[in-house]
Amino acid sequence: MRLLLQNARLIDPSQGLDQVGDLLLEDGKIAQIGKDLSVEDAQIIDGTGLVAAPGLVDMHVHLRDPGLTYKEDVYSGCRAAAAGGVTSLLAMPNTKPAMDTPETVRDLLERAKTADAAVYTAACITKGLGGEELTDLAGLKEAGAIALSDDGRPVVNTRRLLEALEQAPSLGMLVTAHCEDLYLASGGLMNEGEVSRKLGVQGIPAAAEDCGTAREIAAAASIGAPIHICHVSTKGSVELIRDAKARGVKVTAETCPHYLLLTEEALEGRDADFRMNPPLRTEEDRLALIEGLKDGTLDAISTDHAPHSPEEKADFLKAPNGSIGMETSLAATLTALAGKMTLSEILQKMSWNPAKLLGIPAGTLQVDAPADVVVFDPEKCWTVDENALHGKSKNTPFKGMTLKGKVAMTIFHSRIVYDGR
Ligand code: DOR
Ligand code: ZN
Ligand code: ZN
Repeated sequence: MRLLLQNARLIDPSQGLDQVGDLLLEDGKIAQIGKDLSVEDAQIIDGTGLVAAPGLVDMHVHLRDPGLTYKEDVYSGCRAAAAGGVTSLLAMPNTKPAMDTPETVRDLLERAKTADAAVYTAACITKGLGGEELTDLAGLKEAGAIALSDDGRPVVNTRRLLEALEQAPSLGMLVTAHCEDLYLASGGLMNEGEVSRKLGVQGIPAAAEDCGTAREIAAAASIGAPIHICHVSTKGSVELIRDAKARGVKVTAETCPHYLLLTEEALEGRDADFRMNPPLRTEEDRLALIEGLKDGTLDAISTDHAPHSPEEKADFLKAPNGSIGMETSLAATLTALAGKMTLSEILQKMSWNPAKLLGIPAGTLQVDAPADVVVFDPEKCWTVDENALHGKSKNTPFKGMTLKGKVAMTIFHSRIVYDGR
C-alpha cells in the first residue's frame, strides 16, 4: 500500500523542515520525502494549499477504558483522535478498575492494536489511585506501560511520589504529575476569582495548583530525577517551572488548548462543559501560558481529553470535571497562538516534543519513521458542532466557536483513518 501526498507544505520541526514537496508513505513507514517524487501504483493525494506534518502526539488522554466506556472507549477515543490529527496518545490510568496491574495494562494495549491511533498508556503510581501503596512499577513497565501517573489526583503521600520518581528513570518511565493541593481545592467548582464570586460558587485558588507544582519540583529536584507537570493553567506554575528549569531541575511541562483560548468568564453561563480541573483561569494566566510556550518553559500541548456523558454534565454544580479536546486541539491551538508562534513552533509542541518526552517512535517525518501524518488547512475557519464530533461524549468547551485551522486528513501507519476534505 503506497500513498503519495503531493505538493503539500511539509512542516517537520524534528528536521527543521518547512517547504513545499511530496511525501511517499509505504508499508506503514515514511519512504521518501522530497520534490516531484514520481512513483508507480501509488494512491495520489493532492496536498495543494495544505500543510502536512507529523501526526500529533497527545500525551494526556482519558480513554475511559476499561469500565467507563459509556463515556468513551479505546476505539471511539481513537476515532476522535484521528478526526483531530492525533496519531499517538498516552492514556491516563484513572479507569475502572484503575490501571494499576500488569493485567489491566496488557488488556488495554492488546485491544488497542486494532484502533485508529497508537495507544500508549500510563499506569498508576499508587494502587487504586489511593495515594498510599506503590504499584508494581517494574511489572507495569514489563506489561507495556511507558509512564506513571495518579492523574485525576495528586500522589497524596509525598514519600510514595519520591519512591516512584526514584525508580522511574531506570525503568524508562516518565512520571507525569497532576499538581493539586487537595485541601485548597476541595469543594471548588471553578477558578476562585471574580466570576466565582459573582456566581456564588466555591472557587479553586491558583495556589491549589501552584503548591502542588512546587511540591513536585522540590521532590524531583531533591533526587535529581525528571518529572513532567500536567495541564499547567496558572501564571504561578509557569514561573515555578521556569525558575526550576533555570536551576537545572529536570522538569518538563504541558498545557492544554482550553487554557490558551478560554478564561473563567466562559463559566458565566453556568454550563458544566466549561468545568475542568484545573479550571479555566484569568486573562493574566492565559497570557503567561502563551509566554511559557514561547520561551520553552512549557514543552508540550496536550488535551486532557476527558469525556463525560451529557447526563453527567447536565447539572452545573454536580457534574464531574473534564472536557473533551482531541478533535479540536489543533484548531483551538492554532487559533489561540496565531501571530504569536510560527506553525513549526506550534507543531513541535504537539508532536516532536511529546514524542521525545515519552520516548516513542512518533512526531517526525524522517524516512523510516511510522507513516503518521496530519494534513490540515491552516486558513480554513469552521464552527465546532459538538454533535458532529466522533467520540462518544459531547462535552467540548469550544462548541459554537469558530476556529481557524481544520484537519483535512489523518494518516496512521500509511492508512487514511480520517478524511474530512
Ligand atoms: O478535568 C479533569 N478531568 N481533571 C482531571 O484531573 C481528571 C479528568 C477526568 O478524569 O475526568
Ligand atoms: Zn489531571
Ligand atoms: Zn487528566
